[in-house]
Amino acid sequence: MLLPVIMAGGSGTRLWPVSREHYPKQFCSLLGDDTMLQQTVRRLSGLQSSAPLLVCNEEHRFLAAEQLRLDGIENSPILLEPAGRNTAPAIALAALHATRNGGDPLLLVMPADHLLQDIPAFHAALKKAETLAADGRLVTFGIVPDAPETGFGYIRRGAAIGEEGFAVAGFQEKPDLETAGSYLKDGGYYWNSGMFLFRAGIYLAALRQYAPAILDACETAMAGAQSDAQFVRPERAAFEACPEDSIDYAVMEKTDRAAVVPLDAGWNDIGSWSAIWDAMGKDADGNALSGDVLQVASRNSIVSADKRLVAVVGIEDLVVIDTADALLVARKDAVQHVKKIVEKLKAGK
Ligand code: GDD
Ligand code: MG
Repeated sequence: MLLPVIMAGGSGTRLWPVSREHYPKQFCSLLGDDTMLQQTVRRLSGLQSSAPLLVCNEEHRFLAAEQLRLDGIENSPILLEPAGRNTAPAIALAALHATRNGGDPLLLVMPADHLLQDIPAFHAALKKAETLAADGRLVTFGIVPDAPETGFGYIRRGAAIGEEGFAVAGFQEKPDLETAGSYLKDGGYYWNSGMFLFRAGIYLAALRQYAPAILDACETAMAGAQSDAQFVRPERAAFEACPEDSIDYAVMEKTDRAAVVPLDAGWNDIGSWSAIWDAMGKDADGNALSGDVLQVASRNSIVSADKRLVAVVGIEDLVVIDTADALLVARKDAVQHVKKIVEKLKAGK
């Protein structure tokens, strides 16, 4: 039986002003009526799996619990991090929780903020991955890249493993532009989708080998964990002392047990406003409009109105996001810098 682990501790600062510190993007409805977390939960339906184990920041516990409850998930545990230490520790907490009674389930680790459009294709890839993970592999899901993105991990495809997938011949997290370009030219690479499937025990053993300080801190934090209804709180001081790292750098770049299953399922890491524009339906002039919006002679723009009418005339390749208390206007090719606005806000402007 699969145990889905949903990572919902990111901050989504590039999607300001919709994604906020107290209301980050995974809890927002960025595409359609459902929140990103709800979409993540729903893509599990039809699988033979336990109720998901959510890992998020203490501060977002009520948002998380309420959104799960709306999807009929009432009592499954939610692991609360007192502070963000990135994904390697977050997954370690989940793996320790999952093995606390001696079991060793297959963990399906999923980010709570991605788009996946073709659910049957996703489920078919999972089936293949389960076979590899049951065999002791750390399985990733590989997306055929179409641009030299520097915000992703790149997986070099190795030898085939049966019909299921391939060994990973190399894993490079967030290469520079030149390296990413050479990978694209080479052709034997996938983007890491950010989802993983492995036995909890195999992940913990990999941490023991490659990042023992993370495992030690998480073990101490879970040994002192307090439970309160569905909330599980690892011990604060131990977890705060945990080194910060992502699973990609801490484990995936180092392990020789990685395997990749190709995934062609309309995946999109909707990390920025241009990615949201990509994923949205558009009018004949390439405009993605949401809410009470009027446009004249505009092209290839994304315009979102929340509380009032927004009208645009003659704009091109722009992002216009209006919310009750903040308005963002940006060039579509500059949206990666939106997070710098959030940094300025945090620093008191
Ligand atoms: N619980 C918890 N705690 N979740 C976290 C934390 C944390 O401290 N930090 C991040 N997350 C969650 C985020 O909410 C997101 O759902 C997921 O973990 C991945 O974190 P990101 O910060 O978005 O990672 P990334 O996008 O830079 O890179 C990862 O995803 C790419 C694909 O989107 C890597 O796995 C890359 O290799 C991959 O290509
Ligand atoms: Mg991401």
